[in-house]
Amino acid sequence: MSSSFGAKPAVLRCSRCGTFVDWAEARAQVVCECRPRIDLPPVLVREAADEEREAALALFRRDFGRSGIVAFGQLMDLDAAPAIVAEMDGEIGGALAYRLVEGGLHIIALATDPMWQRSGVGGYLVAEAELMARRLQIPRMIVSMTNDNLPALYFYQRRGYYVAEWIPNGAERYAKRASLAGFGGIPIRDEVRLEKTIST
Ligand SMILES: CC(C)(COP(=O)(O)OP(=O)(O)OC[C@H]1O[C@@H](n2cnc3c(N)ncnc32)[C@H](O)[C@@H]1OP(=O)(O)O)[C@@H](O)C(=O)NCCC(=O)NCCS
Repeated sequence: MSSSFGAKPAVLRCSRCGTFVDWAEARAQVVCECRPRIDLPPVLVREAADEEREAALALFRRDFGRSGIVAFGQLMDLDAAPAIVAEMDGEIGGALAYRLVEGGLHIIALATDPMWQRSGVGGYLVAEAELMARRLQIPRMIVSMTNDNLPALYFYQRRGYYVAEWIPNGAERYAKRASLAGFGGIPIRDEVRLEKTIST
C-alpha cells in the first residue's frame, strides 16, 4: 500500500501559460500584480454530500497519489474524513478534508483542480473551514505539509498561518519509500506544521 507523504503527480498549473506541471518540473518565480485576473463561475462551498465524496476523493488521490495522508505521526484515511467541497458549474473544483482534534481543526488535505488553481477556490475552502472552527468555538487551525511544498507554504502563510513546528527529517522516510520528487526537485525531508489562531 502506498501510504506515504506527498506522492505527487502532475497537479499544479503554470500561472503564465496554463500548462499542467509535475511537482519536480514546477518552478517558483517572483511576479507582481500584473498577472491576469481569472473570472470564476459562481462557487458554492459546502459540506460534501454523499454523492460528492467520490469526486472529492478523486481530487485528493490525484494530488496526493493515494487516499492515506501521513502527518503528525499518523496515517489518516481520506476516505473516512469529512470534506468541504467547492462546486462550480456542477463540477467539484476543489475539496478540503478535515478532522477535529483536541483544540483544533486539522486540515488533512486541500486540493484545487489544476484547471481552477489561482482563481480563489483554495481560499474559499480554507475560509469555510475557518468559519466552521469559529462556529464550533475551536481556537486553532492546524495543517501539515512537506518542506518542498512552496506553493502551500506560501498559500497558508499569506492567509495568517504561521510555522508552529518544523520536524527535521519527519517526512524523509515516507518520501524515500515511495521515491517521491519534491516541488522544483527540492528533496522532501521535513514535515512542517502550521497553525492559525481563530478568534472565537
Ligand atoms: C495550494 C493550493 C490548494 C492553492 O489552491 P488555489 O485554489 O490555487 O488557491 P487560490 O486561488 O485561493 O489562491 C492562490 C492565488 O491565486 C490568487 N487568486 C485568487 N483569485 C484569483 C483570480 N480570480 N484571478 C487571479 N488570481 C487569483 C490568490 O490571490 C492567490 O495568490 P496570492 O496569494 O499571491 O494573492 C493548490 O496549489 C493545490 O491544489 N496544490 C496541490 C495540493 C497541495 O499542495 N495542497 C496543500 C497541502 S494540504
